[in-house]
Amino acid sequence: MRIESKTNYSAPFLLFKDWFDQANQNQQIIEPTAMCLATVGVDNKPSSRMVLLKKFDERGFCFFTNLNSRKSHELNNNNSVALCFYWGALRKQVRIEGYVEKVSDIEADEYFSSRRPESKIGAWASRQSQKMNNWQEFMDRIDAIKQKFHNQDIPRPNFWSGFRVIPNSIEFWQEGDFRIHERHLYKKSQDGWIVDQLYP
Ligand SMILES: Cc1cc2nc3c(=O)[nH]c(=O)nc-3n(C[C@H](O)[C@H](O)[C@H](O)COP(=O)(O)O)c2cc1C
Repeated sequence: MRIESKTNYSAPFLLFKDWFDQANQNQQIIEPTAMCLATVGVDNKPSSRMVLLKKFDERGFCFFTNLNSRKSHELNNNNSVALCFYWGALRKQVRIEGYVEKVSDIEADEYFSSRRPESKIGAWASRQSQKMNNWQEFMDRIDAIKQKFHNQDIPRPNFWSGFRVIPNSIEFWQEGDFRIHERHLYKKSQDGWIVDQLYP
């Protein structure tokens, strides 16, 4: 991989799209949209978990979640985040650093409405990241939601939405033989994106 351009605004997004398309087309990659999301806690300590990339464009990378979850509380307190993709079959890693903004209600509704009914019920029934008294309590909540919305369209809960990760930097890592890996780090500047090559 050779990147000649020093300031091409859309270059990292085009490159991301190229790699993401390759990951989607690769039969060995079971979940190409899976990415590790790292947040910062109120105690300034990091935590991470996997989420799914549901859409991206030149504004950023979106995932959806429960707004009362641990991650959402952490994001409300400190909107700095890091994302990491690893597509082993392609020997590629992408690291993204930046900050989050909530997606609009329209975008959240749009994505929620595309989910299967079972997943919509799950979103309503789960008090994500809160302590559960017992499993039956959760099953009862699922039954209650099923009854509540029986034969109806299931609307998006107001405690469920998405975040857009707006990148300040994106690093593309391509594994080479004998650890001769190629790393290209894009950083956002006032004039657009600057790309530098890093030692592996
Ligand atoms: C492959 C994978 C994809 C996941 N995608 C999501 C997701 O898109 N949104 C979400 O809220 N949780 C997702 N989860 C569950 C999270 O990893 C996590 O357990 C949950 O969101 C609670 O995290 P929190 O307590 O830090 O808020 C996923 C888990 C895995 C393993």
